[in-house]
Amino acid sequence: MAELEGKVALVTGGATGIGLAAATLFAAEGARVFITGRRQAELDAAAARIGATAIRGDVSDLADLDAIAARIAEAAGRLDVLFANAGGADTLATIAELRPESFDEVFGTNVRGAAFTVQKTLPLMPDGASIVVTGSTSASRGNPGFGTYSASKAALRQYARVWAAELAPRRIRVNVLVPGPTDTPGLRGIAGDPAGVPALLAQMAASTPLNRVADPAEIAQAALFLASDRSSFITGSELFADGGEVQVFPAA
Ligand SMILES: NC(=O)c1ccc[n+]([C@@H]2O[C@H](COP(=O)([O-])OP(=O)(O)OC[C@H]3O[C@@H](n4cnc5c(N)ncnc54)[C@H](OP(=O)(O)O)[C@@H]3O)[C@@H](O)[C@H]2O)c1
Repeated sequence: MAELEGKVALVTGGATGIGLAAATLFAAEGARVFITGRRQAELDAAAARIGATAIRGDVSDLADLDAIAARIAEAAGRLDVLFANAGGADTLATIAELRPESFDEVFGTNVRGAAFTVQKTLPLMPDGASIVVTGSTSASRGNPGFGTYSASKAALRQYARVWAAELAPRRIRVNVLVPGPTDTPGLRGIAGDPAGVPALLAQMAASTPLNRVADPAEIAQAALFLASDRSSFITGSELFADGGEVQVFPAA
């Protein structure tokens, strides 16, 4: 029996990287999948490949979130699984270099975006629904230049604890999926120049005991576990799919 048979799932940031891999797996496991993102062409290509429905929208825009929720309500009438995954960092900066615009951009997407994605889709969720948010190993570490991104993911981790408590009376579970370095356009983008990608990937691989970066499909398996009833007694938790980065090489 497919793990998500008959379920309705929304994957934000579902056109590329971890979101695309999760949306693909959720659809293969029987879910009716909606994907969102800001770039229409990427969304349309991904939706056609997966057999999903694409809804263009920016998670930091409340009107877009209202429109996304309305589209799902109209098309499917409910939402069983929310994978609040859209996010990233526009640029890396030390505290001395930090610009207010960059802070607003990162927190606007990663924290405000996730919070209001949950709020706006909550009325569509039946009792027993599952919310998975994408965290980061950066939330547990002190990597120079990653401050704003790390702080945003730490905020999200704490939000998930509170949402888990608030939604427990409705048996809605909320968990954080913590990917380690994963080979996605988002990770490659950190290199800036494409010529720097191999060195970046090698450096990221060395940060894990398994000495490699993850394939997005590996992270998708962890997302499926948290999304499905197989994790029925897990809430307010975080699942590290990080090649051991945080648990084996803890920050000093
Ligand atoms: N790759 C890693 O090593 C790694 C590790 C830990 C955590 N993560 C987290 O994993 C998640 C997915 O990242 P990824 O690595 O798969 O990178 P990615 O391929 O860049 O995926 C990010 C997705 O989010 C969408 N997105 C970004 N900002 C958005 C916004 N304001 N509104 C709507 N959609 C938005 C992007 O689409 P548009 O640009 O078209 O909007 C894109 O499809 C992120 O939350 C990231 O922080 C990644």
